[in-house]
Amino acid sequence: MKLLHTLAELRSTLSAYRHPAVVPTMGNLHEGHIALVRAAKPLGDVTVATIFVNRLQFGPKEDFATYPRTLEADYAQLDAAGCDIVFAPSEAELYPEPQGFLIQPPTELANILEGAFRPGFFTGVATIVMKLLSCTQARTAVFGKKDYQQLMVIRQMVQQFNMPIDIVGLDTLRAEDGLALSSRNGYLSATERQQAVLLSRTLKALADAIRSGRSGRSGRSDYAALEAQAMASLIAAGWTPDYVVARRRVDLQAPKVGDALVVLAAAKLGSTRLIDNLEV
Ligand code: PAF
Repeated sequence: MKLLHTLAELRSTLSAYRHPAVVPTMGNLHEGHIALVRAAKPLGDVTVATIFVNRLQFGPKEDFATYPRTLEADYAQLDAAGCDIVFAPSEAELYPEPQGFLIQPPTELANILEGAFRPGFFTGVATIVMKLLSCTQARTAVFGKKDYQQLMVIRQMVQQFNMPIDIVGLDTLRAEDGLALSSRNGYLSATERQQAVLLSRTLKALADAIRSGRSGRSGRSDYAALEAQAMASLIAAGWTPDYVVARRRVDLQAPKVGDALVVLAAAKLGSTRLIDNLEV
């Protein structure tokens, strides 16, 4: 496996291939990322993983400075998974000058849910993903459904900019107790790690209630009462939830009768903010 740090090296290496299948990451890899790499392998003639902690998508009070940089361990895992190229550029390589051009996703998608609690997050994500897809000449790119709204933003960006790239969404990998794998799980204390399963359990209970036809007073598609109950169960267990909602899958807006649904949640356990979702 080749480890490349510069665009010049990347371009020259990629000139031998026609169909790069790309997995963008911020490193600090776990089995969830490795599953994305394994899924990408048969989808192209070369598999490229990118590792770049993108300052643009972190808010001023978020963990950019302390986000774990674990290149050596990441390299070993990617190599074992059969990845062909790791592109791990420096900030100076990717942002040689202040990024004046930004990709601004539509507000109705970018300013809800995660975007409402992390202003500017999806502008940062869309801008770096546009850059990485362009640098790696991606023809296929694989992302996890764990970041459901991010996947949707990227799908819509690629569609609206007519980029000839297949965006593949892979189901979330979970620990045995159901906790969605995430780089931020590493911030949890041992006790918090045991408690963390409540997030996926709460979403499962909400999804089950929706499936079994229970709903709020104003009809089948009003899940406000169930959402409030789910929020309350997290609060009662000492969490600080930002949202627990049922949304329609297609655009994450409030569901109408008959829509395919996804339930999504974000909540803080101690100082660690976790997100998860389940398709209903
Ligand atoms: O999901 C992530 O790890 C990041 O948001 C991404 C897509 C690599 C962009 O920095």
